[in-house]
Amino acid sequence: MIEKTLVLLKPDAVERNLIGHILVEYERNGLRILEMKLMKASSTLAEQHYIEHKGKPFFDRLVAYLTRSPLVALVLEGENAISRVRALNGTTDPADSQDNTIRALYGKSMSENTVHASDSTESSKRERAIWFG
Ligand code: CMP
Repeated sequence: MIEKTLVLLKPDAVERNLIGHILVEYERNGLRILEMKLMKASSTLAEQHYIEHKGKPFFDRLVAYLTRSPLVALVLEGENAISRVRALNGTTDPADSQDNTIRALYGKSMSENTVHASDSTESSKRERAIWFG
């Protein structure tokens, strides 16, 4: 099934000049960039994006991180894009990520894990609406 998924190249990726390195991984795996923008996220936007984590001990840190400097928001499209992009990204904690996943290659830590991708059809729809209207 052809799917769309929302991806963020988070501030630590942009700060370390990794935009091109990460995009090449998606593109060479056949995923098409449908939309893309470099922007600084507001706290309101970051809180909406991470609403399911509200109340968790790391929530404030997560919002501060996502808003500290520009990030890249994009929509990727392709066959089974949601699960394929999650597989390319690797596990939440870069220390546990499989070799050659984006987080294994570039992730700094559990909180600064470089990329985000939607985890379901519902979250893809919700997150695309948040970032691209
Ligand atoms: P992401 O895939 O963007 O979705 C939620 C984010 O919360 C996740 O990446 C991590 O960066 C962060 N996160 C999840 N669990 C923890 C945790 N235990 N401590 C710190 N950050 C976390």
